[in-house]
Amino acid sequence: MRTISEAMNVAGLFSEEELSLLAAARQAAKRAHCPYSHFAVGAALETDIGIVLGCNVENASYGLSCCAERVALFTAVAQGATRFLRLALSCPATAPDAPVESRMPCGACLQVLAEFLPLETPLLIDGVGKKQLKELLPYPFR
Ligand code: THU
Repeated sequence: MRTISEAMNVAGLFSEEELSLLAAARQAAKRAHCPYSHFAVGAALETDIGIVLGCNVENASYGLSCCAERVALFTAVAQGATRFLRLALSCPATAPDAPVESRMPCGACLQVLAEFLPLETPLLIDGVGKKQLKELLPYPFR
């Protein structure tokens, strides 16, 4: 049976190709280390060296935790990626009726993404739709 968010996605929010990047993000969320928040997040970043995955990795010293988007981006940079084409993000356990804000990338990740991704880069947000980075962070710090 399809989840409600998958049903929303097939209702025209995303193309087939975008859905496959989102599927990779959902898979990545399964590797999340989130024993404190129990909130798994997965990211799939399409780059010139291929698709690079990330999940949130938490720590007993909470502030040392890292979000899925930054894990994906830093991994891609470390692996030699120089062009960043699209980012898919998924919080698969989010309740269907949860507020949209609970599915969105955090402000810290947006600023870090803006260091490397053109502001026109599409962000594919599971259960929400497609946004450009500049819609979520119009004035990144430079
Ligand atoms: N989290 C992400 O991985 N990405 C975001 O954009 C927002 C929050 C993670 C951090 C933490 O492990 C958990 O979600 C709850 O805040």
